[in-house]
Amino acid sequence: MAYSEKVMDHFANPRNVGELADANGIGEVGNPKCGDIMKMYIKVENGVIEDVSFKTFGCGAAIATSSMATELIKGKTVDEALKLTNKAVMEALDGLPPVKVHCSVLAEQAIKSAVSDYYRRQGIDPTPIVGELEEDCHACEI
Ligand code: FES
Repeated sequence: MAYSEKVMDHFANPRNVGELADANGIGEVGNPKCGDIMKMYIKVENGVIEDVSFKTFGCGAAIATSSMATELIKGKTVDEALKLTNKAVMEALDGLPPVKVHCSVLAEQAIKSAVSDYYRRQGIDPTPIVGELEEDCHACEI
C-alpha cells in the first residue's frame, strides 16, 4: 500500500516543527528497536494548548503522524488532546500502511508524555489523569 497524499504532504512539509522556547510541557517517546524518537512541546494556558511543536528523528510515517497530531491538538483543551487516539491521527491522514501503524502510536504517546510533563511541573501527579505511558512502541516488536 502506498502512502496517501496527505501523508506525503505532512512528510514533505511537516507543520509545527522545532522546539518551543516557552513550552511548559515536553514529552519524549522512542522505540529502541526502530530507533525512532519523537519529542513533543506544548504550551498550555488556562487548560488550552496554545502552541505545540515537535521534533521527530524517524521514518516518514513518524514525521507525518507527529505533524498531523500537532495540528489536531492545537487550540484544544488538555483533556481533548488526551483523547486523541492514533486511530484518529491515521484517519486524518487518510490511512497508513499496516506496517506503519505503530508510528502513529508513537505520536499519541508523545502527546501523553508532554501532558504528563506539564502536570508534573504543576506539582500534579499525572498518572491518574494520563494513565501509564507506553514508553516503547510494542507494535515495533511485531
Ligand atoms: Fe516509524 Fe517505528 S518505524 S516509528
